[in-house]
Order: sequence, then structure tokens, then C-alpha cells
Amino acid sequence: MNKITSISNLNRTFVEDLFLKTKLIKKSKIIQLGGFEGKTICLLFFEKSTRTKFSFELAAKRLGFNVLDFSEEISSMGKGESLEDTLNTFVAMGVNGFVVRHPEDKISLKIAKLLPDNVFFINAGDGNHAHPTQALLDVFTIQENFQKMDQLEVAILGDSKHSRVIPSFIELLKLFNCNNLKFFGPPELLNKEHAPAFNGIEADAFFKTDVLFVLRIQKERFQGFENINMKTFIEEFQINTNVLKASNFSGRLMHPGPLNINHEITEEVAASSSSLVLNQVSNGVFLRTALLQLIA
Ligand code: CP
Repeated sequence: MNKITSISNLNRTFVEDLFLKTKLIKKSKIIQLGGFEGKTICLLFFEKSTRTKFSFELAAKRLGFNVLDFSEEISSMGKGESLEDTLNTFVAMGVNGFVVRHPEDKISLKIAKLLPDNVFFINAGDGNHAHPTQALLDVFTIQENFQKMDQLEVAILGDSKHSRVIPSFIELLKLFNCNNLKFFGPPELLNKEHAPAFNGIEADAFFKTDVLFVLRIQKERFQGFENINMKTFIEEFQINTNVLKASNFSGRLMHPGPLNINHEITEEVAASSSSLVLNQVSNGVFLRTALLQLIA
């Protein structure tokens, strides 16, 4: 298996192997692991990214890959070349694998189909379909902090409707028998399939919550009919010290990033001792290194 479009491509044994490898890489503290010298990986990002793109680049360089950093603006796609022809061109040059982020929903499925069997592929986020490596690093981070996944209580707050992280996150949590999920946010930002849903944060709302997973509002994926007043959203849903106190929260805070500070979360809370935000980022490099070792 060398093409990862979503969590559904993975079974629990693969994920447990991946997490073990990630743990060993993290523990070893070896920066230059090597092993993939002479191989080439191409990063094609058609949307902005800091965490995913640069952690893949760091991971690939630590393994010894040549890294091609594709940029649409200076490529022949600007002259009308298709994505398919672009990928075929790189394959003809001898590229061994691709990491692709693209705004189109499920384009990862088309890419996986058109690439030859011996070329690996990782979906780095396609529309609001999937973002499998984000889910993997998030669940790895959870497992570093909590023993029993089947007893974990997770609250997801914010724009889960337009998130590609959440479908992958839920799928992976279910693979580990974690089904205790709650969703918080205004109706416009909640997916009807996600239940139970709460359109406000009551006193004691997070009394039993182990992980509070906060999401930014993803306006770039709005369909045009969402009517979100940011001031009202902040008043009703912002995660700040007062809200955490009133809701009786004593768990760990997570956010896949990027954060919109002082919108969905305050700087104080994001930087507090209960926040795992930067652990998620660090683990992203270790996990993506381990993943490349397994599939490249
Ligand atoms: N979480 C995430 O995908 O971050 P980037 O957009 O910075 O890659």
C-alpha cells in the first residue's frame, strides 16, 4: 500500500506500526536518518500551507530524498497544462512519489488512480474531503497523553462543517473505538451528520471532556449562504479562560492549525499548559518521517 487518500486506506495494524515507528524516531532524536538517497519526492501544494508542507519537506530531507517544491505560478500549468499531464511529466522525470494539497474535493482519488503502481502518493488535504496525515498526528498526540482511547471524551468546537481534518479525525478515532464525540458551534458551521451537537456552551459543558479540539472558521470553503457574525461567534464560542472555567474543563486543548488567535481561541489559552498545539506540530514531522519510511 503506497497511496494514502484517506484514513479508509489504512487498517489498525498499519496505524499501530506507524505510531510505533513515530515514537522511535521521536525518541532517537536523530535528525539525519537517511535511507532514501537517490529518491525524489515532489510536493505539489495548490493551497497555502505552513505545517503540512514544511513538515513533509523536513521529513523528506531528513530521510535523504531530493525534494522538488512545485509552484503552480511558475509551472507550465500557467500555460494551460493539466494536473494529469503535470504529474505524468514528473513521473517521466523519475519522481518516486508525490504529496499533494488541492482545493478540489476527492481529487486525491483521481490522482491515486492515474499514478503508476510504483509511485507513492499522500493526500495533504483535498477540498473538505480528507486530511489523513493531520488525523494521524492528532491521534498520535492524543495517545501520548491518554491511555484508554475507548474511554476518551472528545469535544469538537467550531467549524466542523467545512473542515477536511474532522472527517479523517473521526474515522481514525473510530478505528481506535473512540466514539464519545460531541460537537459545538453555530448551526451554519455544524455538519448535520455530526451528533450530539450543541449550539452554545452551557455551564459544566466540558466537565468530562478529555480533549477539546478547536477549529478555525474556514471561510475559504464557505458556499456563500453561511451567515456568520464574527462578533457573535466570539461571544458564544470563543475558547478563553473564562469559558474554560465556567465549563469546568480540565482536559487537554488541541487545534490542527492554523489558529486565528482571538477568534476561536485566545492566545493565553493556546499557549497555556493544557494546550497540545505545538506538540501536534512537532509530532507532525516525526509522523510524516515515519510514514515516508513505511510507504516510499
Ligand atoms: N493543519 C494544517 O493542515 O496546517 P497547514 O495548512 O499550515 O498545513
